[in-house]
Amino acid sequence: MKKYNFDEVIDRKGTSSYKWDNATYPVGKEMLPMPVADMDFKIADEIIEALNKVTEHGVFGYSLPDEELKSLMQDKLKKDYHWDTELEWQVWIPGIVPGITAACAAFASAERGILTSIPVYHPFHLVAGWLNKPLKTFGMLEVEGRWTYDFEEMEQRLQEGADVFLFCNPHNPGGTVFNQTEIDRIVALCKKYNCKIISDEIHADIRLFPQSDHICIGNNFGNSPNDSISFFATTKAFNTAGLGISVAIIPDPQVRNEFLKHTFGFLPMLSRHAIEMKKACLKFGSTWLSQMLDYVQINHQMLNEFVAESKGLKMVSLEGTYLAWVEFDPSLGDFQQKLFEAGLHVLRGEQFLGKNAVRLNLATTKSNVQKAIQIMQNVLNETN
Ligand SMILES: Cc1ncc(COP(=O)(O)O)c(C=O)c1O
Repeated sequence: MKKYNFDEVIDRKGTSSYKWDNATYPVGKEMLPMPVADMDFKIADEIIEALNKVTEHGVFGYSLPDEELKSLMQDKLKKDYHWDTELEWQVWIPGIVPGITAACAAFASAERGILTSIPVYHPFHLVAGWLNKPLKTFGMLEVEGRWTYDFEEMEQRLQEGADVFLFCNPHNPGGTVFNQTEIDRIVALCKKYNCKIISDEIHADIRLFPQSDHICIGNNFGNSPNDSISFFATTKAFNTAGLGISVAIIPDPQVRNEFLKHTFGFLPMLSRHAIEMKKACLKFGSTWLSQMLDYVQINHQMLNEFVAESKGLKMVSLEGTYLAWVEFDPSLGDFQQKLFEAGLHVLRGEQFLGKNAVRLNLATTKSNVQKAIQIMQNVLNETN
């Protein structure tokens, strides 16, 4: 079995990288970027080979998801997440964010609008403004070392009315992998108040404790009508986010048609590269993925230990994602800005409608995580 070297430093500067070629970085200043969620690791060999094959063929016309891709996806849902699905439930689209926007456009009314938990991945709350629909939010609580929903607040918001609930599992930021009790509660509440569940499961394969199951919420409707929409992609777990491809699983034909109507004319077709890349991830990616998760788990432990020993900082262990959510004491002032000035770019909690927190991307080399910790330590020394 090949052993991948995640310590390898790959220079991403000058590659039009959203992360590394950030135009806001001061000219001449060495910045360590840990904002947007992509990884600094080279992808699995088989995926590179699949992409090379397409490139060598040399013709890049319009492409459609083929039967092999659809069957591979169906098998994955069954094998990895224990969900039996039909092939016709699949709707292939180039990205989850445009899919969420299309779903909200299709199903959120101007009266009841969109519900989500906060802090949350920013498009979940921004979509309300993009579509001019009301946004309703409820908070998350830290219970026994993990973030979970404030279910009472969730029910209050649902009582006030919401057409769609945007669910993120594993949760970004904070990394909660929702358990069966939580999923049952969410489904029961949404059913009670007639609210559709739109579920983003892009981080499903990024579980830092892989023995914990990923539970698909769309597989939890029992015999009652299943009008959920669940999005999946391998783009985060296999570091291929720039080659957009994702799938919506929509069991109900009417919901599927309504969703599709809101994609026509807005979303481009898939690229051949994306299709072949996705097939290679599904067929061959597991060795790379498990080694990558072990590596990121070590980065995560380093940060966790540093935070636990640092006055004024706090984080819960990530169950999933590589996106740490570090809370800081308000006495530290504008911690994000201080880190930026010291050469570390992390995202501000407010971007996710959180407070006194920053989000750090740990999918990078160990040496970068060590550097980030050193910068945080220096800023704390200067501030405390
Ligand atoms: C929860 C979540 N959903 C979706 C995305 C982006 O998905 P896509 O690139 O398919 O639009 C991200 C990227 O970080 C994410 O964290």
